[in-house]
Formats: sequence, C-alpha cells, structure tokens
Amino acid sequence: MRRLVTETRAGRAVAHRFIAGDTLGEAVAVAKQLNGEGMDVSLDHLGEHVLAIEDAEDATASYLACLEAIDEAGVRGNISVKLTQLGMGLDDDAAATNLDTLASAAGRIGTSVTVDMEESAHTTTTIEIFAAVQERHGNVGIAIQSYLYRSVADLDSIIPLGGHVRLCKGAYAEPEDIAHQSRRDVDGAFDRLASILMHTEGVVPAIATHDDDRIEPVLRVAERRSEPWEFQMLYGIRRDRQAELVAAGHSVRVYVPYGGAWYPYFTRRLAERPANLTFFARALVGS
Ligand code: FDA
Repeated sequence: MRRLVTETRAGRAVAHRFIAGDTLGEAVAVAKQLNGEGMDVSLDHLGEHVLAIEDAEDATASYLACLEAIDEAGVRGNISVKLTQLGMGLDDDAAATNLDTLASAAGRIGTSVTVDMEESAHTTTTIEIFAAVQERHGNVGIAIQSYLYRSVADLDSIIPLGGHVRLCKGAYAEPEDIAHQSRRDVDGAFDRLASILMHTEGVVPAIATHDDDRIEPVLRVAERRSEPWEFQMLYGIRRDRQAELVAAGHSVRVYVPYGGAWYPYFTRRLAERPANLTFFARALVGS
C-alpha cells in the first residue's frame, strides 16, 4: 500500500490534496495564501516515531528553519510538532530538550508551539513534557482527544498551565477500555469538553473539527465568550466552511502539513472518510 501511494503519480496527486508540498518553501507559499484569505496557520513538518536520536535532532533543526521562515516571510502562524518526532519513546529527556529549544525559538519571534497528541501509549509522557516546557516558556499548547476517557481529567491538569488547548476527536485506533468507540460517544465527549474549554478563562480553546454538528454548539457558547478562542481545520478539508467561518468573523487556523514523510498522515486522512478511499481508488484506476 505504501509503495502504491508513494511511488505512483496518482497516489502522490491524491496525497497532495492534504499536504502543502514537499518543501518548506511550498509550505510558506501556502501559508501566505491562507493568511491572505484571513486564516492563521500551524505548520507541521511531517514526521513521527523517529528511529534514531540523530533524526530527532534533524527534525528539531528543520522546525527551527521553519520558525525562521515564518519570521522572514511574515507568516501569521505557529508550528505543530509530534513529540515522537522529537525523540519521545527513544529518549524522553532529549525530546523535552528539543521541545524546549523550539518553544524558546518560537518565543523569540512572538509565536507558539502546539504539541500534537499521538497514540495513547504516549499520552502521559506527552502531557508531562508539555507541562514542563509550558511552565518555563508560556507559549506552548497541546492537543486533547475527545475519544479518550481520560481527557476530562487531563483537562483539569492542563487548564491551570494556560496557553492554548486544541480539542480534536482523535485519529488513532484505540481499544475500548480506554477510548469511546461509537461516533455518538466520541461526539458527545467532544461537546462536553468543548463546553468546558469555552467556559474557561485563561486558556485559548482551539476547536479542531470539520463537523458542523460540533461547530454549532461552540458558536452558540462563543457569543458569550469575551476571551480569545479559535477554530482549527486541516489543510485541504472543507475549505468552503473555513472561508465561511472567516467571513462570519471567526478566527480560523489551518493546520498545514508539509515534507516528504507524509504517508502516515495521509493514511489517517484516508481512514477518517471512506469516500476518500473510493476517490483514491478511482484516481489509481484512471492513471
Ligand atoms: P468527522 O470525522 O465527523 O468529519 C466531519 C466532516 O468533515 C466529514 O463529514 C467530512 O465532510 C469532513 N472530513 C473530515 N475528515 C475528512 C477527511 N479526512 N477527508 C475529507 N473530508 C473530511 N488527531 C489526533 O489524534 N491528534 C492531533 O493532534 C490532531 N490534530 C488535529 C489538528 C487539527 C487542526 C484538526 C482539524 C484535526 C486534528 N486531528 C488530530 C484529527 C482529528 O482527531 C480527527 O481525526 C479529524 O479532524 C476528523 O474528525 P472531525 O472532527 O473533522 O469530524
């Protein structure tokens, strides 16, 4: 499957619906265009689960280059990072140091870092590393997944740290003893967590969904919220809705992935929507 996707022109063409490009330059060009359309961005240099600590150092260096490019090009945006890309799982202390380096560099140019949330095996360490770096720098946010039962309790410890909290449904296959399995339960948990965040002062809720049924209740609560908050959506998904929300005066940040290591990200996007698989299969047959 990986070869079919990465080594055929059709496979790469479908993947690039969700990915800004292979290079930092392409990502910055997309970011500037989205900024021009009234949206902020979060740039993700794709990669996860590095196998050697040198790869984590390389990933950190590539993010430093990304921050430099954000500054030079005047992009309105921040970066999103996966801690397994910065070495978590191999050497957690090194991953924490790498995140610290990025938070420090982001702070120098007046922006922030969001820590993506990965598989549940990494949730506790991700929160611990985030908390330590956020306490030192104050410009780090984290993603929380509504499908995990633990997320309500995690919010209790994360909220006092301030910063931004990205709420998403969760993109990995998780077992039923730790995660809601039905769409209804995941959605119900999302609405409850969104309500907590939108009623909490001192954090910036980042409501990350393309689901209108999740967006509507947030819009109702938002009328009474005086502090900052934002919607977040993925590059290439529901662009029409992104533009509508901006036109209605809401803050929207688009998550912009780029780089050569796009295969795992792409398979998660395929899995989220069966129609994508049909589209992908048609593209392959037609090529
Ligand atoms: P849902 O899946 O119900 O989709 C609602 C509608 O959106 C669909 O009906 C369709 O129209 C459209 N849509 C959604 N996904 C699509 C796709 N792949 N292709 C085409 N259309 C699609 N997860 C995680 O585990 N850790 C993380 O750190 C993050 N970070 C993150 C950042 C941002 C900005 C977003 C928007 C999402 C994430 N996610 C994530 C992914 C998230 O957990 C979830 O898997 C996806 O957002 C899909 O869920 P929705 O809330 O969009 O709802």
